[in-house]
Amino acid sequence: MTAAGSAPARVLVLNGPNLNRLGTREPDVYGTGTLDDLRAELEGAAPEGTTLELRQTNDEAELIGWLHEAVDAGAAVILNPAAFTHYSYALRDAAALVTKAGLPLIEVHLSNPHAREEFRHTSVISAVATGVIAGFGFGSYRLALARITGAL
Ligand code: DQA
Repeated sequence: MTAAGSAPARVLVLNGPNLNRLGTREPDVYGTGTLDDLRAELEGAAPEGTTLELRQTNDEAELIGWLHEAVDAGAAVILNPAAFTHYSYALRDAAALVTKAGLPLIEVHLSNPHAREEFRHTSVISAVATGVIAGFGFGSYRLALARITGAL
């Protein structure tokens, strides 16, 4: 990140449960783009020298393992925790490992959870994230990537 020195060359874009259904899942809320579309968009936007890996899982343990991997690899993280956002203290603790290691972790959401049901108004992740971007569809990820790679 610009504020904290040179941008990490490796960026993990991690997506939680049900985001594998993007494209057909509530398109009025999440849009019609698929995860493959998102991957292509981010790869097109990433500056040269940036290694970007986009992954998705419905499994909390797997997502936690990927955050541990980010710490060990010195990778920046763009995290859409999906529904885990609202209740997973285990994921929060893993996210804290990333930011405590001095690596950026940006929480992103396609929708604006604050404009939706009340249970979505709470994020147990935000307090340990470097920053939060919500409500801009794939643009939330683009903004996070721009920040991580020093363009913002
Ligand atoms: C989401 C918002 C969450 O409330 C929801 O559970 C998701 C997606 C978003 O990207 O807008 O699965 O994280």
